[in-house]
Amino acid sequence: MREILLKIKRVKKSFHQKSELIEVLKGINLDVYAGDRIVITGASGVGKSTLLHILGTLEKPTAGQVFYKGNDLFCLSAKSLAQFRNQKIGFIFQFHYLLLEFNALENVMLPALIAGWTKKKAALKAEELLDEVGLKDKLHYQIGELSGGEQQRVTIARALILEPEIVLADEPTGSLDEKTAEKVKELLFSLQKRKGMTLIVATHNLKLASSFPLWYELSHGQLHLKKGE
Ligand SMILES: Nc1ncnc2c1ncn2[C@@H]1O[C@H](COP(=O)(O)OP(=O)(O)OP(=O)(O)O)[C@@H](O)[C@H]1O
Ligand SMILES: [Mg+2]
Repeated sequence: MREILLKIKRVKKSFHQKSELIEVLKGINLDVYAGDRIVITGASGVGKSTLLHILGTLEKPTAGQVFYKGNDLFCLSAKSLAQFRNQKIGFIFQFHYLLLEFNALENVMLPALIAGWTKKKAALKAEELLDEVGLKDKLHYQIGELSGGEQQRVTIARALILEPEIVLADEPTGSLDEKTAEKVKELLFSLQKRKGMTLIVATHNLKLASSFPLWYELSHGQLHLKKGE
């Protein structure tokens, strides 16, 4: 039997907007098994990013729980939570948060250096990943010298360098052309296969979504299974 990695239980999230309290997530339940490839689609503003932020422990739910291997994440101390986030999760988000004063290679190496890898090992792995996302010739470009799509690919390489157990990706192919988007998807899927990594992706791209074994649509604050077991 496969192990339940993340258990999302009756998760709600509300936001104050002007004088109103808007409930975006209305009691989400989801079991994520190790090695799952899950895609979440839904109209703009339905709460896909909000849900990914909660899964990545970047935001707290208003109610409900998220368990990682049976442990309630939001009961952890801030320090343990940060440790969980850094060690277990790779983030590929809409806003890149790349360091502008560093080049592509250095940006990808950074998480590995922080984790204590040698410079040589980090550089080798970063080069390999940048090659896989099609940026072999731009290793030493400053971030500002790269296009939006190229920056997005640097983010993807950076998210993968520590081979995280869980990858959360918010529109990972949003600013990519169809061919590059396909390559990025292949890369994510091959890593999932080789490393058993768990992949949770939010996207508007229905073609991308249709290639995932598990597809949920988020609407009216709930997840609806569109495809899968
Ligand atoms: N920090 C916040 N404060 C107030 N409202 C917020 C906040 N974050 C998100 N929201 C609201 O929650 C709703 C869901 O936002 P979210 O970004 O999760 O949508 P989304 O499904 O990712 O949309 P998109 O497809 O456009 O990226 C929106 O109505 C948004 O305005
Ligand atoms: Mg979003």
